[in-house]
Amino acid sequence: MRYLDGVSRRRFLAQAGLGLLPAQAFTTAALTANAFAAEAALKDHAARKGIVYGAAILGSSLRDDSFRSAVLRECGAIVPEFEMKWGVNEPSRGKTNYKISDAIVSFASDNGLRLRGHTAVWYVNMPAWAKAALAQPGGMDLVYGRARDVVGRYAGKVYEWDVVNEEIEPRDKLPGGRRNSPFYQAAGPGFIAECFRIAHEADPAALLFYNDYGLEYWTDYEDARRRATLELLASLKAANAPIHGFGMQCHMKVGNRFNEKIFRRFLADVASLGLRISLTEFDIDDMRLTADIPERDRLVAEDAQRFLDVALDERAVKTVMTWGLSHRYFWLSRERPRADKLPTRGLPLDADMARTPMWHAMARAFDNAPAR
Ligand code: G3I
Repeated sequence: MRYLDGVSRRRFLAQAGLGLLPAQAFTTAALTANAFAAEAALKDHAARKGIVYGAAILGSSLRDDSFRSAVLRECGAIVPEFEMKWGVNEPSRGKTNYKISDAIVSFASDNGLRLRGHTAVWYVNMPAWAKAALAQPGGMDLVYGRARDVVGRYAGKVYEWDVVNEEIEPRDKLPGGRRNSPFYQAAGPGFIAECFRIAHEADPAALLFYNDYGLEYWTDYEDARRRATLELLASLKAANAPIHGFGMQCHMKVGNRFNEKIFRRFLADVASLGLRISLTEFDIDDMRLTADIPERDRLVAEDAQRFLDVALDERAVKTVMTWGLSHRYFWLSRERPRADKLPTRGLPLDADMARTPMWHAMARAFDNAPAR
């Protein structure tokens, strides 16, 4: 008996501490919303509406028992934050290192977690040898080989792949707002469609996504990014590239201007191309906010719910991944620290794995969302 889209009644009753009475003694309706709310994790709030919730993890964090338990409690999916990138997987030409990405893939399959692949082709984290070789004739075959190798290695185990990441950059003044990346320089605009064709051959079962950032806010620059992204996605569809979805990273920052109408329209335009949408790297930068934790948490939660209430109204949005789960392992605190050096608090769990106001805001947003 499936209850709450995949949360079996048996597991739910057990978790809710209601024990197991004969089925006739219980109807799902008899289980109060409070019982659900008290026991449900983010993955359950999401799954009730046909949405998958998960988080990015670093391989090293899986050695942390309390964090690993929190991932299993809250997440229906995981994505490698770093260890499935080319620079890690092939530090020198032909010398591969999949040790940690293999461990993450095993953790997902051993625990019934869906897995997002991130990322086959990205101009950042390219191994130095590949950057040099790319400038030589035939260099792109190395990139296509990378895509084939990594997608093929995990064939059948990845439900969504970020095949190509971050190839939009209007400031580079190329046609279509494309980034002047090493790949674009070597092969021109058509390389993205070729990466998708190769990924599809390598794993016909995986849903293939193009992933990018800077699309959520009301600025001229992000308007240009949204236009360029739609143009790219439409061109991939027109070329019959096997693209199934668009990954919108959603790295948010409290204080940025958000225009609900413009954002809704963008999501609808992406969905009108017949693409699924995943919020692939949702997190919130609180660097503009006071040090006071209750005030910071309140404003972060407000931003999270305001954004997700709009984003989840679009039924094409089927997956929400936070870029991290706990403040204990948060890339923003590592790489873009606050001026006061206090840990950034833009994830659902704090450093002690306790649920933050952002967690509750996300649960409410999932509860408010229309069912898929
Ligand atoms: O694991 C090593 C550690 O052993 C070493 O001591 C340390 C210092 O050099 O580096 C550690 O590796 C770092 C890794 O994060 C894990 O923390 C790398 O140097 C660092 O470059 C890497 O940064 C990642 C970054 O992508 C570049 O790959 C971030 O964790 C990750 O959050 C970030 O994620 C990107 C997405 O892939 C694409 N969208 C933007 C997003 C944020 O930049």
